[in-house]
Amino acid sequence: MIAKGKNVPIRLNQCRKSTLAINLSVMSVREGIDTLLVDADIQGSCNEFSQRRDELDITPRLQVMMKHGRNLQRELADLQHRYQRIV
Ligand SMILES: Nc1ncnc2c1ncn2[C@@H]1O[C@H](COP(=O)(O)OP(=O)(O)OP(=O)(O)O)[C@@H](O)[C@H]1O
Ligand SMILES: [Mg+2]
Repeated sequence: MIAKGKNVPIRLNQCRKSTLAINLSVMSVREGIDTLLVDADIQGSCNEFSQRRDELDITPRLQVMMKHGRNLQRELADLQHRYQRIV
């Protein structure tokens, strides 16, 4: 992923975006907040992580939805009414 900085592109590869999203989501669920983690990367690291937690019976469950495509923003707008927090 490359984010456009003011003049130069900033490389965001492997800078732990997924790790941060996962940790924030787990903290949020532990606080009792109804949380959905949306994995919008086809690589699916967050989804994989949630599957691993389930396989190992780790609680609390982390609810993850994989979503790609041009209507992502629209989907998120709909989902925000169904969860207290979306990561
Ligand atoms: N504290 C840590 N110590 C060592 N390795 C770590 C640590 N945190 C994350 N990693 C590893 O660093 C790698 C990159 O992390 P992560 O997948 O979160 O990055 P990303 O920014 O989402 O990458 P991508 O651009 O591929 O989506 C992963 O293999 C992850 O397991
Ligand atoms: Mg990632």
